[in-house]
Amino acid sequence: MHLLEVKAVSHAYTNRSFLMRKKGAAPVLKSVDLTIEEGTCLGLLGQSGAGKSTLGRIILGLEKPRAGQVLFEGQDVYRADQQTRKHFRRHVQAVFQDSYSAVNPRWTVEQILSEPLENYESMSRKERKNVLIHWLERVGLGEKDLCKYPHQFSGGQLQRINIARALLLQPKLIVLDESVSSLDMVTQAVILDLLVELKKELGVAYLFITHDITAAYHLCDQLAILDQGELAAQFQSKDDFFSSEEEAVRKMRDAMLADHPLSRTIGRPVR
Ligand SMILES: Nc1ncnc2c1ncn2[C@@H]1O[C@H](COP(=O)(O)OP(=O)(O)O)[C@@H](O)[C@H]1O
Ligand SMILES: [Mg+2]
Repeated sequence: MHLLEVKAVSHAYTNRSFLMRKKGAAPVLKSVDLTIEEGTCLGLLGQSGAGKSTLGRIILGLEKPRAGQVLFEGQDVYRADQQTRKHFRRHVQAVFQDSYSAVNPRWTVEQILSEPLENYESMSRKERKNVLIHWLERVGLGEKDLCKYPHQFSGGQLQRINIARALLLQPKLIVLDESVSSLDMVTQAVILDLLVELKKELGVAYLFITHDITAAYHLCDQLAILDQGELAAQFQSKDDFFSSEEEAVRKMRDAMLADHPLSRTIGRPVR
């Protein structure tokens, strides 16, 4: 059984316009199929507007697709009973691009990180604090950060806190939607290394959504390419993607590499 399976998912947003009484619905996803296995990272690549975030939200159970299914451990996410949905919500977490809007600015780090634990675990205040300190240290922060507020951190530090929050329920899958894209290059590299390490250590799987080939190369085991709502290709290894001579893949690769600062080296990865 796959950890996650997306089966023939199609989606469209309804356009409501003041001028037109008719509602139009432009297709955003067209019969997308993909799978993620336990402990692996699938990179979902595609240009802006391809439908990546929409697919991410559908996988997270946040947006019911017009057609198709999302199966987590074989269970349909949108037709599950309450208990299965609770299991799903615990085991599928997300880290989004904007680290500041993901947290309540009036809460301390302790409050931010306590919330998911309070929802799923019953533990004493002291036990909870120990768990929080463990995860803060795991992402390179520490006990002294518990009483701080979001504005006291840099974007990279706050993204570490978001990663800690996603991890502390020990989920099976984390959806990372452009999670490092707004960080500077050095911070990006450090956070990507951290994600690689955590994946190895905890066996957590990632769906890594990005328009950045270099970041995907660093983290992902498999790659899927979304092009205007359609799955253009899925590669079992990232090297297959980089060596593919298929016209559509080459075009996509060139377009995504064109304005990338590391574009000269990425074509010939040395590993
Ligand atoms: N909530 C929404 N309502 C209407 N249209 C949307 C909404 N979210 C995304 N779209 C449209 O769907 C398409 C795909 O968007 P998105 O999934 O955000 O792509 P990506 O993440 O690949 O950039 C775009 O044309 C976008 O304008
Ligand atoms: Mg997006």
